[in-house]
Amino acid sequence: MRHLLTAEELDPETASAVLDTADMLKSTLLGREVRKLPTLRGRTVITMFYENSTRTRVSFEVAGKWMSADVVNVSASGSSTGKGESLRDTARTLSAAGADCVILRHQASGAPQRIAEWLDPTGTRVVNAGDGMHEHPTQALLDAATLRERLGGLAGRRIGIVGDLLHSRVARSNTHLLRTLGAEVVLIAPPTLVPEGARNWGVEVTHDLDSQLPGLDAVMALRVQAERMHGGFFPTEREYSVGYGLNAARTAKLPEHAVVLHPGPMMRGTEIAPRVADSARAAVEQQVRNGVHVRMAVLYHLLAGEENTA
Ligand code: CP
Repeated sequence: MRHLLTAEELDPETASAVLDTADMLKSTLLGREVRKLPTLRGRTVITMFYENSTRTRVSFEVAGKWMSADVVNVSASGSSTGKGESLRDTARTLSAAGADCVILRHQASGAPQRIAEWLDPTGTRVVNAGDGMHEHPTQALLDAATLRERLGGLAGRRIGIVGDLLHSRVARSNTHLLRTLGAEVVLIAPPTLVPEGARNWGVEVTHDLDSQLPGLDAVMALRVQAERMHGGFFPTEREYSVGYGLNAARTAKLPEHAVVLHPGPMMRGTEIAPRVADSARAAVEQQVRNGVHVRMAVLYHLLAGEENTA
């Protein structure tokens, strides 16, 4: 793996290897007072976030630090981007300053791919930490890690992804990765929030959440991305909550073993009821914990794994 740009490009072997490494790192660090491995000592990881983030940014920073890398965080608002510097010049500058890996979140779909092209000759690795409405591959990996833990595996499992599919990079990455790992995916959303062409993604698409619930092994509620709905929130928040919110009555229709996921940040009361978000069925905090180990594994495979020499 030279860069991690999309979940779509991950083959089953590579995805499983990253997930197995994450499991190994998690069990190695479990119960340790000092959670620090020397693996990436002397390596420099730079995070560059042009959009807000709590989970992804913090967990990449923690992941790098737990592997002894030097981690530098750059915000677009505090960088020379504000003076008009181009993305290409910023990326080349970070590489020249010593970045072994640049982790980029950007509002433009495809931005990480572009900087990977620009940085490839320099040897700097690039990780997509979420690009526009396109992909969020490490979110899909941490969701897969969580589902493997909860369900014992993904092959043959039926996973429902519900909500604002139209604007969701999480839905796209999860759809690709879950299918790669052998799961069946059903996408559930109001008609206005289904992306054009979703029926060609090799998945079932439906507008009816309630009829799906008894057949699901897991249901993933998505965040409603109001900031990308420039024409207003349609359906209304109330209509969305009535038709697609995961409330206690709905989750009671799931099989007993079924898991509830949410990538966060959660809009409690719209996408998911507080009672459901805080229930034993929900894996929200487990997803965040696994995010650290999965991101450690990604950094390991990019910067220290055998394939690093390829
Ligand atoms: N799930 C996710 O990407 O969260 P953040 O935006 O807080 O990083």
